[in-house]
Amino acid sequence: MTAPTTAPTTAPTSIGSEPGSGSGSGQLTVGVVGLGYLGAVHAACMADLGHRVIGYDVDAAKVEALREARAPFFEPGLEDLLARTHGEGLAFTTDVSDLQGADVVFVCVGTPQRPGELAADTQYVTAAVQALAQVLPGTAVIVGKSTVPVGTAADLAQTLSATDLEVAWNPEFLREGHAVADTLTPDRLVFGVVSTRAETLLRRVYARAIATGTPVIVTDRPTAELVKVAANAFLATKISFINAIAEVCDAAGADVTTLADAIGHDDRIGRKFLGAGLGFGGGCLPKDIRAFTARATELGAGQAVGFLTEVDAINLRRRAKVVELARAAVGGDLAGARVAVLGAAFKPLSDDVRDSPALDVAARLRAEGAHVTVTDPAAVDNARRQHPELDYAPTAQQASAGADVVLLLTEWEEYRSIDPAALAAVVRHPRVIDARNALDAQRWAAAGWDHRGLGRPSPAATATGAASPVHAAAA
Ligand code: UDX
Repeated sequence: MTAPTTAPTTAPTSIGSEPGSGSGSGQLTVGVVGLGYLGAVHAACMADLGHRVIGYDVDAAKVEALREARAPFFEPGLEDLLARTHGEGLAFTTDVSDLQGADVVFVCVGTPQRPGELAADTQYVTAAVQALAQVLPGTAVIVGKSTVPVGTAADLAQTLSATDLEVAWNPEFLREGHAVADTLTPDRLVFGVVSTRAETLLRRVYARAIATGTPVIVTDRPTAELVKVAANAFLATKISFINAIAEVCDAAGADVTTLADAIGHDDRIGRKFLGAGLGFGGGCLPKDIRAFTARATELGAGQAVGFLTEVDAINLRRRAKVVELARAAVGGDLAGARVAVLGAAFKPLSDDVRDSPALDVAARLRAEGAHVTVTDPAAVDNARRQHPELDYAPTAQQASAGADVVLLLTEWEEYRSIDPAALAAVVRHPRVIDARNALDAQRWAAAGWDHRGLGRPSPAATATGAASPVHAAAA
């Protein structure tokens, strides 16, 4: 395909119209394609770094919201950042030709799991790059941020071989809920490049972070692509490791939270991501480990990552375990039981319900005939769209009214700090399943609750020494 390298006729709305207009100064003209959790934050942060930025998305409602400095989703700090950068060189468009003056364009579109397969669907990345090829000058560099199967950048570059456009990969490690800080002050920057042109541009883009000592790893494109999936595979493995240990703790009457504290003091291990409980979800970790498995298998290295299938299986078992605990708590049959579910987002500080363990458990309980009322500080609207069959309530108190069992499935701070005595007054039976090991078990027990954590003995069993089969045998 021969893509035109000359600019089309439509003038950009508010960025420099000359290709390379940022050359010679610290300021660049930066395009961002895809304004989801990643792209919207990236665009606002780029403007905060002093660049002229134009964000492009096909979703007119999203673009309209961002133009009015409204965040189209829940992300702490994003609206403040949008307000700060509003009118300061940050613009949004639904017209890709408005990107024609960009020095560098970041591709931040989704790579969801293909329906019925493990592999990632890269069609949006491909479409974005093809659209950019029609409008960008040959001097521009296209920088992928989306998480892609290794080899994608090289394939995309091949499609652009008739142009002077260059493709680089600069994976993103931001966590939802901390996305602004993670973008402005990242742990590290990874530049997968084939030329000093791209490296120089990326160093200018991130000059502020680099000046404050952020490590920069300059490498080839496949390594950069793999860094991202390897990081997510490691994090997923760490979580499933502790959840596997939690299963053993349950069998042995041991306490996984104390165990995690103890092994976490070893700084080769570290305490982070050893939170045993309901396991991981969201738009990244689950689909990334599956896509990694699929790609490694294509490359003939499937055996090397075979353990990720087990990581996934351990993770999914957590959901079944919580359903089992809820069933047992209400006497063995969920039909007709009233269940309060605290949390719908895949984690706190997010309204994202993609592959949310909390919402999955709620739906499974409903499928067994329970009356399930879900609450969440931010994710109820998204949850309702995905699961209209569930009931929703605005607060934990309202969701718990008349409940036979309360499930804490997403550990929002406001749920951690619930007064157990006050909640006990509204439920039918004071039983709580703390699927994130986030509550003070002794305090809840003292307020009359039957408290169950995951991978921990219940406070009542601890008090009598009955939790441990070892103790039981000795007695
Ligand atoms: C993740 C990576 O952290 C980030 O670097 C990458 O760019 C995108 O994927 P995110 O999906 O926002 O970020 O969430 P993260 O904070 O990593 O949590 C992922 C899941 O793991 C959540 O469902 C969380 O509840 C769960 N988790 C996390 C645990 O179950 N236990 C833990 O100890 C930590």
